[in-house]
Amino acid sequence: MKVGVAKETAPGERRVALVPEVLGKLRGAGLEVLVEVGAGDGAFLPDAAYEAAGATIVSTERLYAESDVILRVQKPGTEEAARLRSGQVVVGFLQPLIDPGLAKTLAERGVTAISLDALPRTLSRAQGMDALSSQANVGGYRAVLIAANEFGRYFPLLTTAAGTARPANVLILGIGVAGLQAIGTARRLGAVVRAYDVRPETKEQTESLGASFIVLKSAIDATGAGGYARELTAEERAAQQAELNEHIAAQDIVITTAQVPGRRPPVLVTTAAVAAMKPGSLIVDMAASSLGGNCELSRVGKTVVTDNGVSVIAPDNLPATMPAGASAFYARNISALLLNFVKDGEMHYDFAEEITAATVITHGGAVVQEAVKALLETAHAPGGPSA
Ligand code: NAI
Repeated sequence: MKVGVAKETAPGERRVALVPEVLGKLRGAGLEVLVEVGAGDGAFLPDAAYEAAGATIVSTERLYAESDVILRVQKPGTEEAARLRSGQVVVGFLQPLIDPGLAKTLAERGVTAISLDALPRTLSRAQGMDALSSQANVGGYRAVLIAANEFGRYFPLLTTAAGTARPANVLILGIGVAGLQAIGTARRLGAVVRAYDVRPETKEQTESLGASFIVLKSAIDATGAGGYARELTAEERAAQQAELNEHIAAQDIVITTAQVPGRRPPVLVTTAAVAAMKPGSLIVDMAASSLGGNCELSRVGKTVVTDNGVSVIAPDNLPATMPAGASAFYARNISALLLNFVKDGEMHYDFAEEITAATVITHGGAVVQEAVKALLETAHAPGGPSA
């Protein structure tokens, strides 16, 4: 079976789905690896490095014509989706719940679509395949480095002949995978770190990293299903906001990572809270997307500087800004997921198995994954949103 590595085409995307060091494992499982010319360039991985690891470098045409399985990071664009053919498999972050239309198109073309973002992450067997976690980890690290770079003062406490610099006060809002890495990175740089989340179990995780956890008097527990948070009610949001505003005003840096699956990210830093911050303070909003972010002022891909001198930074695709490290993790995740399907050198689908049932979105000409099927059915119901 031939496994092809596509060159990413999304603007600013520098990651690549496989790195040369994982090729040995795939070849050991009887797979032949084809790499689209220049696929690793953005991650400092020249074609020669893939060739040395046993891959064949091919043109775009050959990749799509010969590969049985195509591995990628981001979902295929319109042109790439049109190149996929019946019986071919595509694996990547396909975002079927955000873009169910792509799933429908791939099903109609007879393509088997396997999505890494649909992985059941709490399953211990799936942890090595958890690309959402590995990429969030990179994002949390980079968010702190961006903040440190833009901040006009030191992060650590420094005592020098020229005087003493006090340590920076950093607040992390949302303590999932990215938030935990942000806490650890800010601590390693010497900042005084506080953090807050609506899932109470994050208190112990925060403290184990040497940061303090903010306990709100309104004490909201919004633990949802599968280890994620649920959306807060309007009253809970108002109580949270009022208390958080006081903490935000005292910070030099606020890094926000809060997400609720399938919903717009919650607003945690309002325009009024930003207005109360000191000049030179920074907000890095990791949750920002075209849907909005955790800060009301965030504009994805841009830095907004307010009249009171606060910078609101809303980076787009942080993992792509550290392409070599992010690709190395991603490659291990996607090859572990691929090998979950490979038996005797071929793809096998056992829909009774949890990882298969969750990640195989389309197969045999139909959308087969339950959540995506339900979403498409709602979209087509009279009065439902269009897909
Ligand atoms: P995420 O990206 O969905 O959200 C980030 C954080 O924002 C979460 O910790 C969430 O509780 C928090 N948040 C949501 N609404 C908030 C609000 N209004 N105020 C403050 N914080 C808010 O989360 P991520 O990083 O994808 O994973 C979240 C959790 O899922 C993990 O911490 C873990 O418990 C679980 N998980 C478990 C895994 C495993 O068992 N192997 C693997 C990955 C995740």
